[in-house]
Amino acid sequence: MLYLKDLVYHPAVTHTAILKSISLELAPQQLGLIVGPSGSGKSTLLEVLAGLARQTTGKILWRDQELAPDSLQQLAGLVFQFPERHFCGHTILEELRLGHPELSKEKIDSALASVGLGHLPLSTAPRSLSGGQQRRLALAVQLIRQPFLLLLDEPTAGLDWSMRKQVISLLTELKKEWSLLVVSHEPGEMAAIADRCWTLNYGKLTPIDPALFNQPVLGQTVPGTTISGSKSEE
Ligand SMILES: Nc1ncnc2c1ncn2[C@@H]1O[C@H](COP(=O)(O)OP(=O)(O)O)[C@@H](O)[C@H]1O
Ligand SMILES: [Mg+2]
Repeated sequence: MLYLKDLVYHPAVTHTAILKSISLELAPQQLGLIVGPSGSGKSTLLEVLAGLARQTTGKILWRDQELAPDSLQQLAGLVFQFPERHFCGHTILEELRLGHPELSKEKIDSALASVGLGHLPLSTAPRSLSGGQQRRLALAVQLIRQPFLLLLDEPTAGLDWSMRKQVISLLTELKKEWSLLVVSHEPGEMAAIADRCWTLNYGKLTPIDPALFNQPVLGQTVPGTTISGSKSEE
C-alpha cells in the first residue's frame, strides 16, 4: 500500500509550491488515475515518487515504511511521457539489458511475455515497432526491475485509437499484479479501468469518482480538469 502524506514540493526558484499538501492511498492491484491540465504538476509528482526529486515536506510510505529517494529509485518504475524517444538500444535485447547486463534470458522472456511482446525476435529494432508496441517495450524495461509501483506519465499520448486500446488492455492485465499510478491530461478510456481517480490543479489533488469520467460528456467539462476535446499535450 502506497501512502502519500501532505507531500509538498516547493523548489527555491518557484514562487509557489508545485505540489501542495498531496495525500493519497493506493492499494496493491489498484490503478490510480490523476487527471490535470498541462502544468498542473503531474510529471513533477511522478518524479518525486520515482525518487528523482526530493519533496520539500511530507512523507511517502510503502506499508509502514517511509521511503527516501534512493529507495524510491529502486522500488518504483517510471515510464516517461513518449518513452520511445529515449530508447538507446539497437535491439529489443539491448534495450532491456541497458544497465542490467547480467539479466537472464528467463527474466527477459518473462518481461516481454507480460507485455505481449514474447513473440518478437530479440534482435528486432525498437524503432521498427508500432507505437503501441514501443509503449509496451518501455513498460517491459521497467517490469524487469520488479518495481512495487509502476508510474506512467501520459501512457496513451500521441497514440491512435487502436494503439490506445492495446495500452489500456495491457494496463488492465498489469494491475492484476502491480500498483499503477497513471497521470494524464485527459481521462479518455483510462477512467474505465481506474480504481481511484483524482484531479490535479495547480498542485492540489482532489479525489473524484471515476464514474464521473465515464459519462459521455464530450464537449462538457468536469469541474477542475480537461476532458475529451481539449488540446493535445506534448
Ligand atoms: N524543477 C523545477 N523548477 C521550477 N519549476 C518547475 C520545476 N519542475 C516543474 N516546474 C514547473 O512546475 C509546474 C508543473 O510542471 P509539470 O509537473 O511538468 O506539469 P504537468 O506534467 O502537469 O504538465 C510547471 O509550471 C513547471 O514549469
Ligand atoms: Mg507532464
